[in-house]
Amino acid sequence: MITAVHEAARDTIEVGAAAGAYPVFVGPDLLDQLPAVLSAYASAHRVAVISDDEVGPIHGASVARRLVDAGHEVTFLTFPAGEASKTRKSWSILTDDMLKAGLGRDCVVVAVGGGVTTDLAGFVAATYLRGVPVVHVPTSTLAMIDASVGGKTGVDVHAGKNLVGAFHAPSAVVVDTTVLATLERARRAEGLVEALKHGAIRDEAHFSMVMERTESLVAAEPMTCAEVVAASVRLKAEIVAQDEFEGGVRQMLNFGHTIGHAIEAAADYRIGHGRAVACGMIAEARLGEGLGITETGTAARLSEALAPLTDRGRVDVDGTRARQALAADKKSRDGRPRFVLLRRIGEVARDVGWTHEVDDDTAHAVLDAVVGGW
Ligand code: GLY
Repeated sequence: MITAVHEAARDTIEVGAAAGAYPVFVGPDLLDQLPAVLSAYASAHRVAVISDDEVGPIHGASVARRLVDAGHEVTFLTFPAGEASKTRKSWSILTDDMLKAGLGRDCVVVAVGGGVTTDLAGFVAATYLRGVPVVHVPTSTLAMIDASVGGKTGVDVHAGKNLVGAFHAPSAVVVDTTVLATLERARRAEGLVEALKHGAIRDEAHFSMVMERTESLVAAEPMTCAEVVAASVRLKAEIVAQDEFEGGVRQMLNFGHTIGHAIEAAADYRIGHGRAVACGMIAEARLGEGLGITETGTAARLSEALAPLTDRGRVDVDGTRARQALAADKKSRDGRPRFVLLRRIGEVARDVGWTHEVDDDTAHAVLDAVVGGW
């Protein structure tokens, strides 16, 4: 049966992980393969399908129906859509609901949705009865390219984004690029910021490929989406397989995220992750150029590539909160933020490690400038 899944997928990418490698199946029309994927990679009779209240009625329900038809007992749980739901409170409601439904250690969680869902449902799976398997079914470009791969799970807290969480690798990821057609155009575009990021840190040809295909990607052309998502996942998979728990090389995936996360927290998560990371990538490229580390012109190239994907205007943030969030970043040491800086498009500049310490005044200056628009 699993041969049929491999045949149906345009690409299958194996991601190395301590708990065992897992496949990411990518291609149009893959949702029908989910029961076969479950039976091969996360065999369980009882399944908790977790989705938000926007994606749930569309894709969550259709996933649940397919699983019921295949003989599974399904508990279907939803939470209010949006980053504001990625909280300890949502986590406690979902885990309580699973306990009430009597789900045991032999259940599996299927997360159907965007990055908020894969992070939150992944954290539920990581902690429920000390951990049950999770299969991700990402439905946004952002979740397909980034959030569903690599095992990062967690919730946001007042001090900052993703500050409470766990590494919990999925058992499998099913990326059906057909579902992107139901996503709002602006959200589809925003998620591609992460694909450009993968090119910016690792592969200039990938960066150019995403730029060239921006129009068909934003139009949700399923085969182009499958091609670019698969290429992006492959780049990310190479990195996380080398350093699953982010002791070293995986830190490069945080390019644009030190400032991006600070902006998201200071905007109370009313700004999309892609837009915040785009601001972060521009700011951190300017930072590197100012320090003489990043090739001159890199921020301008990023700006040209990112402009069709996201709003470049002023972001409404509380400046003090943004600075506090910067200091609370997970990479901070002694309250001082550290930044992943590019050497040029396609290459990260190494210091002693993968991040660079920057003094507060310089960091605050680029942060203040980018929130004014770029
Ligand atoms: N999104 C960054 C990472 O997975 O490491």
